[in-house]
Amino acid sequence: MTLPTDSDRVDGLVHALHPRYYTDAELYERERNSLMATTWQFAGHVSALRNPGDYFSFEIAGESLFCVLNKDHEVRTFYNVCQHRAHQLVSGAGSARLIVCPYHSWTYELDGSLRSGLNLQSVRGFDPGSICLAKVKTEVFCGFIFVNLDPDADPMDKWFPGVREALGEFVPHIDALKPIHWIEVEERCNWKVAIENYSECYHCRINHPTFASGVVKPETYDIQPQGYCLRHTTECQNLDRMTYDIDLDSNPHAGDYSSWFLWPMFSFQVYPGNVLNTYHWRPLAVDRVRVFRGWYTVGGEPSDIIDGLAKQDRETTVKEDIVLVESVQRGLNSRGYQGGLLVIDPAGGVHSEHSIMALHQWMRESIDGS
Ligand code: FES
Ligand SMILES: [Fe+2]
Repeated sequence: MTLPTDSDRVDGLVHALHPRYYTDAELYERERNSLMATTWQFAGHVSALRNPGDYFSFEIAGESLFCVLNKDHEVRTFYNVCQHRAHQLVSGAGSARLIVCPYHSWTYELDGSLRSGLNLQSVRGFDPGSICLAKVKTEVFCGFIFVNLDPDADPMDKWFPGVREALGEFVPHIDALKPIHWIEVEERCNWKVAIENYSECYHCRINHPTFASGVVKPETYDIQPQGYCLRHTTECQNLDRMTYDIDLDSNPHAGDYSSWFLWPMFSFQVYPGNVLNTYHWRPLAVDRVRVFRGWYTVGGEPSDIIDGLAKQDRETTVKEDIVLVESVQRGLNSRGYQGGLLVIDPAGGVHSEHSIMALHQWMRESIDGS
């Protein structure tokens, strides 16, 4: 399949991706084997793995995987498939001293090595040390576990330069956080529509009155690429009228809002008061995506403030965006749309879509290799 690119255009302007990128099931399959299998994907939070043997399973790019804490308290990730005859090893979450396959009970250590199997000693010339579960590259980034199916992937610090350090400054307590809410919504759109919606604030003032008048100052909003990260910065509105108390002297960034979108499907956001919250997205089909909002407190302590913020966000920004992205998906299926103009203001700023231009470039690189 050959897809139209910007070079097919002769007007020298920057145009949005062709709608087939968002509607074509064959292209979605290609993404699963290329883009999603070669980028860093969020797996879960380290607080889900407290003791050796704790595990949870999840799916990335159509692959069932699981993370487990080994005896040295390191997070390891494996393909969820037995090396005997391919039965799935674990489901859901739990804790196990050893990984035992439910089919013929081959048994693996927490580091993936084969420990034993029924009657294996009778197989002449067989070396149990030659068998290990298939490993997946894993990093713990500020307490968040990410995996990459590409064994040769560069480390996250190279993909997202400076982000770990900045997060440490904006959220000094980040290593002590635990999630208290994972709010999930399903959107009937291609995952890229949802990501693009997140990655520009050209639509904010018209569509997000609470966010634009109560949290950020849209006229100061800017988004700039930083490696494969899109860094959002803005001044804040009405710090003296926030719905929760902020001690502006507690930290140099106590009054700031910022976010770090890590291509392709995760974002750290910090609200004034050093309040961390996250977005991540999991594609379900070419035209469906699940969006997760994570909210955290130190040690997972209950918090009326965070409960209130999460509720307000779900009932305003998240709800408002669902209507937008689902309308866009319907439009992308229309014969009356072939890919429109991106507004690229050389000065940047809130009314420029240069962040969408960067996303489209990354999408093309990982899907088409160009
Ligand atoms: S498939 Fe796992 S022990 Fe046979
Ligand atoms: Fe939005």
